[in-house]
Amino acid sequence: MPMSLSGRSFLTLLDYTPEEMRYLLDLSTEFKRLKRNGVLHRHLTGKNIVLLFEKTSTRTRCSFEVAGADLGLSVTYLDAASSQMGKKESIADTARVLGGLYDGIEYRGFRQETVELLAEQSGVPVWNGLTDEFHPTQALADLMTIEEQFGRLKGMHVTYMGDARNNVANSLMIGCAKMGVHFTACAPKDLLPAAGLVKRCEEMAAQQGGSVRLTEDVDEGGKNADALYTDVWVSMGEPEQVWETRIKLLKPYQVNRAVIDNANDDVIFLHCLPSFHDRNTSIGEDIYAKFGLEEMEVTDEVFGSRHSKVFEQAENRMHTIKALMYATLS
Ligand code: CP
Ligand code: NVA
Repeated sequence: MPMSLSGRSFLTLLDYTPEEMRYLLDLSTEFKRLKRNGVLHRHLTGKNIVLLFEKTSTRTRCSFEVAGADLGLSVTYLDAASSQMGKKESIADTARVLGGLYDGIEYRGFRQETVELLAEQSGVPVWNGLTDEFHPTQALADLMTIEEQFGRLKGMHVTYMGDARNNVANSLMIGCAKMGVHFTACAPKDLLPAAGLVKRCEEMAAQQGGSVRLTEDVDEGGKNADALYTDVWVSMGEPEQVWETRIKLLKPYQVNRAVIDNANDDVIFLHCLPSFHDRNTSIGEDIYAKFGLEEMEVTDEVFGSRHSKVFEQAENRMHTIKALMYATLS
């Protein structure tokens, strides 16, 4: 049956069926092929989109901009300092204004309720470019990358190590559950995903032949993994003071050579990026000065190893975002 996602928003993967996700992943692969072969695909010429960023970004912003240009879209970028949203104008009023001007809206910010309100009030597709709770466009790229490496998703074993209740981990868990992947969240008790979301994911996974497992044990969590995933220990929007406790809690969950050796021989390492794998950032240098830590969630060795597919994964952000915009705006 032909699939239509026309007019749909993309706020969380919970709203999408496995068939719809399959369609988006296949479309992403097709757009990647077209781009590689230099075949123009300006199918959305004449349409306009706006990108709202209340938090900083490299990959997500650039992916929307490049994908937009490739599709023939005109793109407006607004950051927190240069729009009226939330300060002089309510989210609801902003949504109604932007919905009248644009065919689609991307939002990156804090509360999931904000992206939901934008979708409700604007009347055009709204894409979640990251909230405190979810990062669904990231999960699409993660799944695409795993499938590219192994040729399938169903039955694969993916382990997320670190802050397993953050936006990236939540969306990855949902995406894996929907695609029949065996997902493990490996984290200290306080940083395991919320019970309600885990229960929903367990049910979805069971229907697709996958599973969800939670463990605090690093050996058990990483054993036989096909993909090991981690993310920063402190996310955007969290207070700086949490670094100290987070480092104490998560140091044992660093993805290092021992974790890689415990997994399958051909395990891949994934990270949404940006990553603190050395001291070549101002935050990395600051953490080193305060806590003496040279590398955090992943060692530089693993980050640069043959297992690491992080840059392929970063490129796939663009192909998946393009597929999403095309599917929802066509
Ligand atoms: N992975 C990701 O969302 O990266 P940016 O914060 O650079 O957009
Ligand atoms: N969990 C991270 C993801 C960044 C892409 C954050 O929210 O900062």
